[in-house]
Amino acid sequence: MKFDLVVKKAKVFLPTGPEITDVGVADGRIVEIGDLATASAAEVVDGEGKWLLPGVIDTQVHFREPGLEHKEDLRTGAMAAVAGGTTTVFEMPNTNPLTINPEALADKLNRASGRMASNFAFFVGASPENLDDLASLETLPGTPGIKVFMGSSTGSLLVEDDASLRKVLANGHRPVAVHSEDEPRNRARRAAYGEGTLEPDPTLDYPLNGTASDHPHVRDAESARLSTERLLKLSEETGRTVHILHLSTADEIDLIASFRKRIRVSVEITPQHLFFAGAECYDRLGTHAQMNPPMRSRHHRDALREAFRAGFFNVIGSDHAPHTLEEKAAAYPATPSGMPGVQTLLPVMLRFAKEGLTTFEEVVRLTSVAPAELYGIKDRGNLQVGSFADLVLIDPREFTVEADWLRSKCGWSPYLSESLFGWPLMTWVGGKLAYSAGGELDITAGRQVEFNWK
Ligand code: DOR
Repeated sequence: MKFDLVVKKAKVFLPTGPEITDVGVADGRIVEIGDLATASAAEVVDGEGKWLLPGVIDTQVHFREPGLEHKEDLRTGAMAAVAGGTTTVFEMPNTNPLTINPEALADKLNRASGRMASNFAFFVGASPENLDDLASLETLPGTPGIKVFMGSSTGSLLVEDDASLRKVLANGHRPVAVHSEDEPRNRARRAAYGEGTLEPDPTLDYPLNGTASDHPHVRDAESARLSTERLLKLSEETGRTVHILHLSTADEIDLIASFRKRIRVSVEITPQHLFFAGAECYDRLGTHAQMNPPMRSRHHRDALREAFRAGFFNVIGSDHAPHTLEEKAAAYPATPSGMPGVQTLLPVMLRFAKEGLTTFEEVVRLTSVAPAELYGIKDRGNLQVGSFADLVLIDPREFTVEADWLRSKCGWSPYLSESLFGWPLMTWVGGKLAYSAGGELDITAGRQVEFNWK
């Protein structure tokens, strides 16, 4: 057999565990795994001493196109993805126009085709205007399903009351991805903050001080807990599975654990909620640490780490939410919430594994097999014969994040100068070399993700 590509002698992270072996690729797919010493191939890559992983599936990114391309666009967002070992992204609907109807979804899919180095799918946002159409919207090709903002963030997408949320959950079958913060509570606390009457969040270990570290006081832990409680009750009532995005509080862990005795709930964690905490991260990063839901105190961060260790989370999403340095340079609270992260997801999580929070195998599982299963992704997420050749070759060493490595249009990262683990050398998307360290990017490699679901 003639292969298009053979990667030789890498430590290959197979679904059964790591093994030093060879991987052969033809017509965009993995066609053989085993000894290929004598195989003929158009391209042979020596993987000795390197690790070959299934490409990361990042289930939450904001690439800002259309409408906010000064922050990011589909091309630059995907360049950042493949440079960090991510081969598939699910992009969020809070663009302008909002992705809330078939036309807006079709527009994004058109824009993505031939302009994204990574594979792509686009969430459809639930909004008061499309509540009756959600069951059909979630069946459209190119979407992983419906996303709900119970608490508003960048843009105007919002479903804040229980009656509307009940309608969302009653209309359709796929898991619904939810940003869970309580909008009425956030609104009241924002107003109180403006008036100087805000009661600080008692779960934080530092006071209000007029800077970005006030953000978790304003969007407090109780807002997330309350919203998640409302959501889980409605999930139980309607029988619809929910997927809770970017968990940020200790309180929600216990709450979800108790509901999990009766209903299926999946939960996402971001690398940043495991990494950053306390007044100290705001002292260091200022408004660059501001996101929704916020990074909170160590108490919450440590509970998230403990839950992570115990296998509580189903997937890892970066919530890549770029804003320009100029926008972030305003004074809090006039600053937008969100930080980039698609390029650093894998190396941050591998650093956690290196430090012993988890294992390398578990990071690989959570970033490939697990999202593929959760969303019913067709032929991706497993490094096995028959799957698309979405692969990343990494050098298993520490490296320091420097500005010239970053590919996001926004040009910054909260991890600048941090030491992360696993230097991405080459990323293949559907067998095409989409990224090579220090080399060119192929922005045409990405394909629309297909789903198998009933
Ligand atoms: O901080 C955030 N920024 N959280 C979100 O949920 C949205 C995001 C954005 O789009 O900027």
